[in-house]
Amino acid sequence: MKRAGLTIFDQGAPGRRALRIPGSDVPTEPLNKLIPEGLLRKTEPELPEVSQIELVRHYTALSNKNFGVDTGVYPLGSCTMKYNPRINEETARIPQLALSHPFQGEELSQGNLELIYDLAEILKAIVGLHSITLQPAAGAHGEFVGMLLIKKYFEEHGELDKRKVILLPDSAHGTNPASANIAGFTVVELPSDERGMVNMTALKERLNDTVAGIMLTVPNTLGIFEEDILEIARLVHEVGGFCYLDGANLNSIVGRVRPGDFGIDIVHFNLHKTFSTPHGGGGPGAGPVAVVEKLAPYLPVPAVVKQGDKYLLDDDRPKSIGRLHSYYGNFGILVRAYTYIRSLGDEGMSAVSGNAVLNANYLMNKLKVHYKLPFDRLCKHEFVLSGKDIAEGIHTMDIAKRLIDYGIHPPTVYFPLIVPEALMIEPTETVSKEELDELADAYIQISKEAKENPDLLKTAPHNMTVGRLDDVKAAREPVLRSPKKN
Ligand SMILES: Cc1ncc(COP(=O)(O)O)c(C=O)c1O
Repeated sequence: MKRAGLTIFDQGAPGRRALRIPGSDVPTEPLNKLIPEGLLRKTEPELPEVSQIELVRHYTALSNKNFGVDTGVYPLGSCTMKYNPRINEETARIPQLALSHPFQGEELSQGNLELIYDLAEILKAIVGLHSITLQPAAGAHGEFVGMLLIKKYFEEHGELDKRKVILLPDSAHGTNPASANIAGFTVVELPSDERGMVNMTALKERLNDTVAGIMLTVPNTLGIFEEDILEIARLVHEVGGFCYLDGANLNSIVGRVRPGDFGIDIVHFNLHKTFSTPHGGGGPGAGPVAVVEKLAPYLPVPAVVKQGDKYLLDDDRPKSIGRLHSYYGNFGILVRAYTYIRSLGDEGMSAVSGNAVLNANYLMNKLKVHYKLPFDRLCKHEFVLSGKDIAEGIHTMDIAKRLIDYGIHPPTVYFPLIVPEALMIEPTETVSKEELDELADAYIQISKEAKENPDLLKTAPHNMTVGRLDDVKAAREPVLRSPKKN
């Protein structure tokens, strides 16, 4: 139908409404006075004027064009786009949880607090650490909390003027240096060696008493486990620094090793990755931070504590870095993660990491014959290919765009930066063998097309509503089109 390609602004007619809201009975006068003159709206907002059915049809049509974990294979490296079991949604919608209000008080929130407390205990056991906060809203938020904890520790111990440096491998996720920097530290880069791990000689050269800590992603963004982790932790501790583990890639080790056992002082989780809560598009997430005992006094307030058989919110922590999120974080996400962990149990959790690693290695071994694999060794949950020199004039972006024609979500591209023309692939444990084979066939077919018919790749995708977009322009110059202005 002709209307199918229209934007919401191109539909409807003046005065048409999806919903009529009764007029407000709140007097505007005092409110207006509270808002600075320059921020007050002078004209009506220019909104689409559509009926309810036009609105519903428009967004239903858009959702059918969208690509998600529920519609196809989504092997986006560093994102753990696993299937989110529906039981998680069921529990998150239990009215007693979903409709509870943060201001209803501790007495009426015992169930919620118990769930938070139990989840905290489970997460601590998973990483083998002493204390935890579930407040942070995302992985990057957790990193920032971790950095603030280190800062607070050195402030309390009179070393803040000296401890300025956070060491970071060149394979680190971009949020790591950003978090360290925002917290006020100077980032010093550590090169990777030919194994794709931290270069130990470079580490030793950079270690001294200005180092506040090291931030390591384990396994790292090449999908490789840091084999020298014990020695790294020993060396960093020797100069008085802390070992921070970015646990966003926990999916590959959960239920098998505990970072606390290999010398890690702080870990953040990405509950929305490892524990299957929906993510992407900037939606709510959760990035709990677990720490060793000596950092426990600085964790955010309030803490959920248990006294006898009662659960309480404890604000009385004078050394705390303060509150990091309203109420107690993204509670709905905590409910989903709790459900996921409890429904899988211990055996289920270690099956998750086992199958995630198996799937990644199966796919890697099928593809390395057709694509360059710069670090050819056993991978964990993901691996990084290089699209460099696959065929004259063909870039990784062309491969990614062509994959869309095969109904497969493109991998993460051009990251990590240490691999030229990177294609970072993370199948996760929720992809079947049949799907892995289909995925491999598509990649192999595309590698042939690159040589035999490169234009097919350069102009891809061909089977979508829109063809090749200028991604950079779309990101840098977003346009909210209002026809009334045209
Ligand atoms: C290794 C790593 N660290 C940190 C993050 C940041 O997590 P978030 O996007 O939840 O802020 C990610 C995100 O996927 C990641 O892959």
